[in-house]
Amino acid sequence: MLRALRDHGRLGRLCAVLTASAGLLTLQTAPALATPDTAEASGVNAQAPARTPLKDLTDNHVGSAVAASALVNENDYRSVLTEEFSSVTAENAMKWSELEPNRGRYDWSGADAIMDYARQHGKSVRGHTLVWHKQHPGWLNNLSASELRSAVKNHITTVVNRYEGEIRAWDVVNEVFNSDGTRRDSIFQRKLGDGWIADAFRWAHQADPSAKLYINDYNTGWVNDKSNAIYDLVRSLRQQGVPVHGVGFQTHLSIDYSFPGGFQSNLQRFADLGVDVAITEADVRMTLPVTDSKLNTQADYYERLWNACEAVSRCVEFTTWGYTDRHSWVPNTFDGQGAACLFDESLNPKPAYNRINPTA
Ligand code: XIL
Repeated sequence: MLRALRDHGRLGRLCAVLTASAGLLTLQTAPALATPDTAEASGVNAQAPARTPLKDLTDNHVGSAVAASALVNENDYRSVLTEEFSSVTAENAMKWSELEPNRGRYDWSGADAIMDYARQHGKSVRGHTLVWHKQHPGWLNNLSASELRSAVKNHITTVVNRYEGEIRAWDVVNEVFNSDGTRRDSIFQRKLGDGWIADAFRWAHQADPSAKLYINDYNTGWVNDKSNAIYDLVRSLRQQGVPVHGVGFQTHLSIDYSFPGGFQSNLQRFADLGVDVAITEADVRMTLPVTDSKLNTQADYYERLWNACEAVSRCVEFTTWGYTDRHSWVPNTFDGQGAACLFDESLNPKPAYNRINPTA
């Protein structure tokens, strides 16, 4: 039924109109109407036929990265998030540097705020990320190999244990390959050697046997040296019985480059290894200023990402790296680029949103 709604935009619109004219509150429209600031923020009012939120268009998890501060401080931001999305990823709050800036002294405030929100609103959570060459605390740099190994094991065990049973999927390792398919020269690779990745997955699995464990990376949407390296690693880890359950595709795209060729068949080849696949950090940036034509190209890209995930049965999640241009890492990271999200700064849906949501 959900897939039928997705595939037949007109049917979706008809459903929405019939529902509204019958004066019925559907499951989908209830939250918007129950929360006044949601209705206002999302441009929905009681008379207009409400659109079906993204999360109800698909069986997949539909997520957004969130900053703990915006979640806590901005009612309109929180309301649209709650209405449209079924999953959240901590944009920064679960990274090692945030959780344990000083050795042995954890600060759970940001991560706990996101978990509290998820519990209260029935959202699933993607944990991001246990081991990454960026945003890890400086004190790691001074450790010997054996100390670093214990620190990684201890970190994974402590963090995964804390939220055991509550995190649907963890990005256990993030961005561990170079674009030529060689291992990235991180402190983990340098000091611990090739086996560290298998160990990281085993430790995470021990700490929470129910969490799906992922390897996550960018520029892997097409067949290239890096995606081939991940493919080979996942195949070999699974042959050895290492608990790897999924491959995350960040898909930070730009309309200045062409859409990744063969994106769907690339997802499928990973799925055929017997793992789940997920779009974990989608955004589609553009060189500013925004024009209608750029927004239209952006809409094409988002639609192709969404449709590819819908078409691959083991693609279980479509998560965007922030849902609104009000809070996006893009302008701070890519000079002169922005407007990468599905909603604008005022939380109005953009053409990309309307393209993937046939009821909008
Ligand atoms: C980014 C955050 O969005 C920024 O706020 C932070 O300053 C740097 O990290 N790939 C990832 C994410 O896996 O963790 C990154 O998030 C974006 C690229």
